Amino acid sequence: MYRTHTCNDLTAHDDGSHVILAGWVHRRRDHGGVIFIDLRDRYGLTQTVSDPINHNEAHNLMNEARSEYVLQIEGVVRKRPSGQANANLHSGEIEILVTKVTILNEAKTTPFEIDQEREVSEDVRLKYRYLDLRHDRLKNNMILRHRVIKHIRDYMDKLDFIEVETPILIKGTPEGSREYLVPSRIYPGTFYVLPQSPQQLKQLLMVAGFDRYFQIARCFRDEDQRGDRQPEFTQFDVEMSFIDEEDIMKLNEKLMIDIVKLFVPHKKMKNVPFPVLTYDEAMNLYGSDKPDLRFDMPLSDISDIASECGFGVFKGVVEKGGIVKALKVVGGAKFTRKEIDEFEEVAKIYGAKGLAYMTHGDEGLKSTIAKFFTPEDLKEIAERCDSKNGDIIFFAADSFKIACESLGKVRQAVAAKLNMIDENLFAFCWVKDFPMFQHDEATGKLDAVHHPFTSPKDPEEFDKDPKNALALAYDIVLNGTEIGGGSIRIHNKDTQKKIFDILGIKDEDATRRFGHILEAFQYGAPPHGGIAWGIDRLIMIFANEPNIREVIAFPKDQKAKDLMLGAPSEMPEEQISELHIKVMKKEK
Ligand code: AMO
Ligand code: AMP
Repeated sequence: MYRTHTCNDLTAHDDGSHVILAGWVHRRRDHGGVIFIDLRDRYGLTQTVSDPINHNEAHNLMNEARSEYVLQIEGVVRKRPSGQANANLHSGEIEILVTKVTILNEAKTTPFEIDQEREVSEDVRLKYRYLDLRHDRLKNNMILRHRVIKHIRDYMDKLDFIEVETPILIKGTPEGSREYLVPSRIYPGTFYVLPQSPQQLKQLLMVAGFDRYFQIARCFRDEDQRGDRQPEFTQFDVEMSFIDEEDIMKLNEKLMIDIVKLFVPHKKMKNVPFPVLTYDEAMNLYGSDKPDLRFDMPLSDISDIASECGFGVFKGVVEKGGIVKALKVVGGAKFTRKEIDEFEEVAKIYGAKGLAYMTHGDEGLKSTIAKFFTPEDLKEIAERCDSKNGDIIFFAADSFKIACESLGKVRQAVAAKLNMIDENLFAFCWVKDFPMFQHDEATGKLDAVHHPFTSPKDPEEFDKDPKNALALAYDIVLNGTEIGGGSIRIHNKDTQKKIFDILGIKDEDATRRFGHILEAFQYGAPPHGGIAWGIDRLIMIFANEPNIREVIAFPKDQKAKDLMLGAPSEMPEEQISELHIKVMKKEK
């Protein structure tokens, strides 16, 4: 038997017991002849003390041991002398008087210390991830992740959902990102595609009559990395038959509330039930389709006033079909020129051409652009923005998207600057009624906002004006992060074809890429819909981590590299040629 207890088991009740522990040397202290070792395992720490007089051999081995050595320690539990208990440790009342030590393995000096949080570069942490994972913080993130996923599985099982594994080597499924390809050795010149999500497969499971599916599913997307993105990530993926939008939202909301109460009980949920905003409302009010509702500060619209004013920039924008949005900041009149310039820089990153502003003084609104407005207009602007003496109003004039988004980013920057964000708050909301399509600036073509299998909200409107139709799609948002999204699907071949048409996917192309699903829809596809949560993002927010790498055991870095494994890596010539592939010479 390697051990009788873990390093977190023993308390004063075990006083006098003979025990065996195994673990790592967390800390070693030499107190003038007596050696203390805090032995660590996944469960906790136990203090052990050498007994140089009666157990000299064990004492000598404890003297030899260094940080992160793996030891087996035998001894007798005793209460710590009074006043020396450590209330922070479960085993803090006791220590082990050591009778025997076996060094199970030695350890080189680690590249960073395990026993404390240090400023270590992330590259080093990722290269030695197995050491980084010895830290409590990361270990606890992994445990939290495990528990949440386990709870989801049990919860869904009780509701008659079944978890079905779908393949990783598939044919492409369009979710809007670049795909990872896997060359086939058997069929020269052909490729498998790694799934961006199990989207088509879960729909086919509905055609198969499975009714209620879920999966903790790995997804792969070759896209630029960000704090909340990884090339491979995990979804909690759901699909259901014979349901409507409301059914899916309710079910997911209930589960989410349950999980928050269980796993992050210290977080206060701001709005229960979760508010439901349309895409249009979210953009208009908060300048984002994933609004941070931990604070209020809504935007206003002054396009009508601007269209009549003498300020060429505003008037011109409205004449060209754009809008003018306003953001009032309570107490913002005290912002310095420098601070205002910084907010303007934020707006410009998101496409704004400037950030005009007015401050509210004793006599109403003042600004270098005030002269272009009548006193009545100024009064109307102040009223619409509900501004008072001491406030500031920022303006963005542009297309709907740029005006809303850039001012939405200013809203977020202002809230951060003024410490308006309560970190203990969880503000969830649903955003729905997204447009079906958006213009891709780069290609000039229309793209599906959610994905091409999403059903239009109103079939009649869709028939009349498909390009401007709304979708039966919904996102779940937490504190300004999109943590999940889904839609009611098309289950009818003709509508699906029409969508492909609008997206510029030709008949042959649709048959080649999605023939299987178009065909399946001809064999009795039930009405269905679903959703997927980003598990990594959710755990990241639960764990208060700044990026999702901290909640993934072995993540890629920001350049999509695995620094520990050294992936991606070059491959031997013969292995590559077996795949009927030629690597073009790298430019040096
Ligand atoms: P979507 O593409 O919106 O929907 O993805 C669902 C959720 O997955 C998370 N997510 C990511 N997390 C980490 N890294 C990434 N690169 C990444 N990309 C997405 C987000 C997002 O909300 N098949 C549809 C779902 C459906 O319609 O049922 C889909 O994948 O939290
Ligand atoms: P200008 O007339 O270019 O000196 O601009 C006057 C003010 O309007 C400056 O504060 C600019 O930042 C601001 N401004 C310019 N273009 C826009 C715009 N499209 N939206 C909002 N403010 C703008």
